[in-house]
Amino acid sequence: MTVIVSGSRVHSRLLGELLASQLGLKLFSVEGRRFPDGEIYVRIIGDIRGEDVVVIQSMEPPQNDALVELLLIVDALVELGVRGITVFTPYLPYARQDRVFLSGEPVSVRVFLKALRVLGVERLVVVEAHSERALSYFQGEVINVNPLPYMAKIRGFTSDTLVISPDLGGIGRAVSVAKAIGARSDYIVKRRDRITGGISMELGSLDPSGFDVLIVDDIISTGGTIAEASRMLLERGARSVQVLVVHNLNLPGALEKIRKAGVLKVTTSNTIPQPDIDFLDVIDITPLIANILVKWLR
Ligand code: R5P
Repeated sequence: MTVIVSGSRVHSRLLGELLASQLGLKLFSVEGRRFPDGEIYVRIIGDIRGEDVVVIQSMEPPQNDALVELLLIVDALVELGVRGITVFTPYLPYARQDRVFLSGEPVSVRVFLKALRVLGVERLVVVEAHSERALSYFQGEVINVNPLPYMAKIRGFTSDTLVISPDLGGIGRAVSVAKAIGARSDYIVKRRDRITGGISMELGSLDPSGFDVLIVDDIISTGGTIAEASRMLLERGARSVQVLVVHNLNLPGALEKIRKAGVLKVTTSNTIPQPDIDFLDVIDITPLIANILVKWLR
């Protein structure tokens, strides 16, 4: 049989409950606590020897704690003698450091994905992992779920919307959304200074005047990318700007920065816990994941 094991943090448990009830599977929660020196302790209570296990670990900040806990959970499952391990990390941290940009840097996401594989994880399921390159470092089966077309459709964005990626690297996301709603897509040219982290943008020949624009991206971190893109689009005559993003990291000040730049609303998913505020529209993407997991249930 297949069972679900969720990490000890609140959002991991919540996602675990949602998926377990949609799939009719038994859910085991991890007992997690800290040693006095801050080290993480986990224990999985229950008889799951010989079972196939889907581990659900939410990776919102502080993501380093979530990472260490996940590695410990996988090792505990191997010790318990489970049959197979699938890991579902709705948001994959460190994915943006998927290469050496400046000499002397690590390929951070590779470290984490290699560790999971070496420990015995067979299959990895993630939601919008920033780049295929990031996932190429996992030498097992990988499923990268793009929830943006689903999100755009259920919120009823229409074919007269202009769908914009804030950089060339994200054009595939904008195209996938545009296709789903029968709209046009385009992109902004963004450059990032790898030393200071600062960004500069150019609209080039892109003409948003008169359009209701939907900016589509994988992640809001500081909010700088979306805020700058929105400002430029409105200055160039866009009628309105909304945002559709998979992961909102919910860092202090980011949404406010985006709101002040003139964005009407941000639509995001529940890969990461979200605050309950009017400016933010949160879509549950667990039905999409349940549809994928159901294919492997034994
Ligand atoms: C960049 O490649 C990503 O797709 C996002 O656009 C970026 O990481 C967002 O970061 P921030 O919100 O800090 O501008």
